Amino acid sequence: MYARITGTGSYLPALALSNDDLVARGVDTSDAWVVERTGIRNRHIAAEGQSASDMALEASLKAIAAANIAASKIDLIVLATSTPDYIFPSTACLLQAKLGIGGAAAFDLQAVCSGFAYALTVADKFIRSGSHRCALVVGSEIFSRILDWNDRGTCVLFGDGAGAVILEASEAPGILASALHADGSHHGILEVPGNVCGGKVVGQPFVKMDGPAVFKFAVRVLADVAQEVLDKAGLDASAIDWLIPHQANIRIIQSTAKKLGLHMDKVVTTVDRHGNTSAASIPLALDAAVKDGRVKPGDTMMLEGVGGGFTWGAVLLKF
Ligand code: UT7
Repeated sequence: MYARITGTGSYLPALALSNDDLVARGVDTSDAWVVERTGIRNRHIAAEGQSASDMALEASLKAIAAANIAASKIDLIVLATSTPDYIFPSTACLLQAKLGIGGAAAFDLQAVCSGFAYALTVADKFIRSGSHRCALVVGSEIFSRILDWNDRGTCVLFGDGAGAVILEASEAPGILASALHADGSHHGILEVPGNVCGGKVVGQPFVKMDGPAVFKFAVRVLADVAQEVLDKAGLDASAIDWLIPHQANIRIIQSTAKKLGLHMDKVVTTVDRHGNTSAASIPLALDAAVKDGRVKPGDTMMLEGVGGGFTWGAVLLKF
């Protein structure tokens, strides 16, 4: 028994801000710097009052339609986010209510930018165990609300969005192998070290990052974990039709592809369109490549992410 992706969907909020728009809004940066150092040209910003579960709903409805299933068939919702609607209940439960379906297991998963790789791996284990047959796996993030817009080292990098897939039990191959890792000792190089206590925000409610340290860490572990998953599946990198990495920085993506010996024409990149959308970036890129016809049924794909925690993971699958 395999778990196979049978539908994809994504959503970006209507408001798009270019690098020049950020400059016009007073951010001390330039289009040339951001494009050269990150590859980002645009990011989307959620409307006031729009929540992670609202965006998740938009992406999920598209994935459900693409899979051609009734929403009531979903018996598991795993939603990756670091920007939930509430402290509780989970954004997954709020999404479930918005979908108008009840009864399915639903929970959030917090692994920051590795969230989607983690969520897909967890849902795969549920399906392979035989306990569940149809999972909705979502990444939805509103990082614009946890950015310090005076910190040019972070505010130009992130954006809002959501992506979703339907993962169904299947006799035909789907997810072939996966690996997840974390090393909490590196928590300080990328964090939002704040909380709510006694009705007040304590600590810092904004993203704090040592960019160069994150960069070096990401390049190392993304190549390593991709190789680990290929080894588990008994394949080598030449078997990969599409590498769909977390979309944080084009230079990290290029370095990872180079280490794996993959030409960039086998790599899906959407970081230019929406910046780093954390747990939403992999399903956003996957859906873009499905919709534009690049990814076809039967293709072999490596999805991989790295993020705060530190966490990292990869999933190799047949589409
Ligand atoms: O999902 C994981 C999340 N995070 C990431 O993936 C981020 C990983 N890191 C990166 O992508 C890169 O480290 C950054 C894009 C964040 C920074 O690029 P960098 O090439 O590592 O630059 P840097 O931090 O070493 O800074 C170089 C210079 C500095 O100026 P000085 O000290 O050389 O005069 C910065 O002050 O660039 C300056 N700088 C900027 N200039 C214009 C930093 N941010 C900006 C900016 N616009 N937005």
